[in-house]
Amino acid sequence: LAAKCLAGRRVLLTAGPTFEAIDPVRGITNLSSGRMGYAIARAARQAGAEVTLVSGPVALAAPLGVERIMVRSALDMHGVVMARAAASDIFIGVAAVADYRVANAAEHKLKKDHGGVPAIELVENPDILAEVAAMPGAPFCVGFAAESRNLEEYAQAKRQKKKIPLIAGNLIQDGFGGDDNRLVLFDDHGSHPLAPASKDVLARQLIEHIARLTGNL
Ligand code: PMT
Repeated sequence: LAAKCLAGRRVLLTAGPTFEAIDPVRGITNLSSGRMGYAIARAARQAGAEVTLVSGPVALAAPLGVERIMVRSALDMHGVVMARAAASDIFIGVAAVADYRVANAAEHKLKKDHGGVPAIELVENPDILAEVAAMPGAPFCVGFAAESRNLEEYAQAKRQKKKIPLIAGNLIQDGFGGDDNRLVLFDDHGSHPLAPASKDVLARQLIEHIARLTGNL
């Protein structure tokens, strides 16, 4: 990692899944482990940045020297990120945020014998990354796209829809869980496939790419 290429920069990032409650003990979530986002938080810290990591429920320890804020739902994550985004130079959305939450979450545990099969109604969650990117004086915004096919097409479409300068694409079978990944970076200059590697190695390459695009390297 180019030594201290983000010295003094403030990096805000999200990692892990979100958990959308159905009742006090049940919910909708996904298999993100948080490893990719935590590796990027460590790499940004090693590059000299001041790092705030907004993390969904994961079983990982807070990286050394990083401010970590634990959240549960997409709405919680949205609130914490929006309160801090204006004071950040770089925002990286690594979290697998639930697109929908349960509109009719129950205050008490759902009981099996009461009124048949429960119906779960969904409502759309705010798009945290798109909202940050649309702020006046927005930080440099980086997204992630996990796809099961058509990686380039879908990742580019997300980059354009969310109006962000850089998105890192990965295939679900490569990226979710596990210590290794394969990333393709898409920016205004085209696509940059990175060799398959550990999430730690890829995180450092991503941080260097961000440092170059933001004129810090
Ligand atoms: O945690 P790991 O097990 O290491 O796995 C890492 C990962 C595969 C989860 C990660 O590398 C990854 O790809 N994260 C993004 C997953 C995804 O597909 O996100 P998305 O397509 O739903 O969203 C695209 C982008 O918008 C992401 O940057 C996401 O953080 C952001 N987003 C999405 C929805 C929403 N409501 N708010 C957001 O900010």
